[in-house]
Amino acid sequence: MNRRFAPAGRLRGEVTPPADKSISHRAALIGAMCDEPVTVRNFLDAADTRSTLTAVLSLGAGVDEREGELVIRGVGLHGAFEPTNGTLDVGNAGTLMRLLPGWLAGQVSGRWTLDGDASIRRRPVGRIVEPLRSMGAQIAATDDRLPPLTVDGRSLRGIGHTLDVASAQVKTCLIFAGLLASGQTRVSEPSPSRDHTERMLARARAPVEREGLTVRMRPTDELELEEVVVPGDPSSAAFLVAAACLVGGSRVTLSGVGLNWTRTGFLRIAERMGAVIVGELEQPPPEAERAAGAEGFSRQGPAASPDSEPAGDIDVSAAPLEATTVEPDEVPLSVDELTLVALLGCFAEGETVVRGAEELRVKESDRIAGVVEGLRGLGADIEASDDGFAVRGGDGLRGGTFDARGDHRLAMLGAVAGLASRDGVEVEGMEAADISYPGFEDDLKALTRS
Ligand code: S3P
Repeated sequence: MNRRFAPAGRLRGEVTPPADKSISHRAALIGAMCDEPVTVRNFLDAADTRSTLTAVLSLGAGVDEREGELVIRGVGLHGAFEPTNGTLDVGNAGTLMRLLPGWLAGQVSGRWTLDGDASIRRRPVGRIVEPLRSMGAQIAATDDRLPPLTVDGRSLRGIGHTLDVASAQVKTCLIFAGLLASGQTRVSEPSPSRDHTERMLARARAPVEREGLTVRMRPTDELELEEVVVPGDPSSAAFLVAAACLVGGSRVTLSGVGLNWTRTGFLRIAERMGAVIVGELEQPPPEAERAAGAEGFSRQGPAASPDSEPAGDIDVSAAPLEATTVEPDEVPLSVDELTLVALLGCFAEGETVVRGAEELRVKESDRIAGVVEGLRGLGADIEASDDGFAVRGGDGLRGGTFDARGDHRLAMLGAVAGLASRDGVEVEGMEAADISYPGFEDDLKALTRS
């Protein structure tokens, strides 16, 4: 589906972005691990999270959908069923593909195969296969590194594992396995990544402790999670933030956005580039300020919470932008928004550089290639490196055609580029936005009409 996005006048108004995708996946999976029903308010209704609901149903959980909320009736930590209908289809959801095997690997018995679409079959799973095997898991993947993945339930033993790359998906997979393994499991990451799993499990009274970059857990028989309220997704909101930063005269309010400091790296980067952003962002703990790109920021906001997800409103106004450099430590805290830094960079004075972001090459598409080739086709002066890109900005974008490459975040980036361009942008494959943000075009229209 092709869609044309014409240059916009100023954006005005208020939008509530869709519910957080990462937290929705976790609510469905952890809800399925509980013995008692878990109520989830504001669960994301999008293709990726529907894949997770279908998966938990196949594993024996019940899902009741009522207006605005879901009730997950779990099977308990040790009770996942073998599906009667064969393979578990994760669709396009890399998060489901990486998280679920951690739970299944530690079941007493049973065999599960996980597979997905063409993009999923290119996404690395060796990063979970290897540590799960060292916990005693029986797990097979194509060439040990790509889906489909087959897991046979076994008794697991706790290990100490240091992640090569900061990945919340791998961390979560090992935390789930650690809840079923004998002894202690310890997972350390090289720099902080999103911590939704740790917060949700703390609320579920799981024996999970955090100290700096290390998470430790012990086995348990039961999780108790009564309710999860899912905030708005800061990664979805980021597309509207970028639009408001770039289209002159804009002033936009985004309400009910998740403000967990491990997810607001893009807001700190955009602000450093000159965007005017007002909101009570959760503060990183002092030892993580440098990694979060928050050193020297004077913003007032609540201290980091161990077990809840802060949410609030942010106001964004357009302003002249200056180039910046995004350092490797900041990457995990803005990983899904880094292509938007390239877009802002096209309009910023000077050279904007992102490094240490080789993970972008193995997302839903190779996002370094997608954003560099895509923006260059719209008139950008941008170059790829192995682990990021450099953009010489200031002239903005002419416009043209932008290929979403089947990637939801590239589709939305192309749309925002169109609003900010001189001639407009035709996005090829706009339907990909439905993976995380089905109402995206309506929300953009509401802001351009107000
Ligand atoms: C996610 C973690 C990130 C992110 C993805 C969602 C999660 O992936 O890119 O969209 O929900 O844990 P990595 O853990 O591979 O960095």
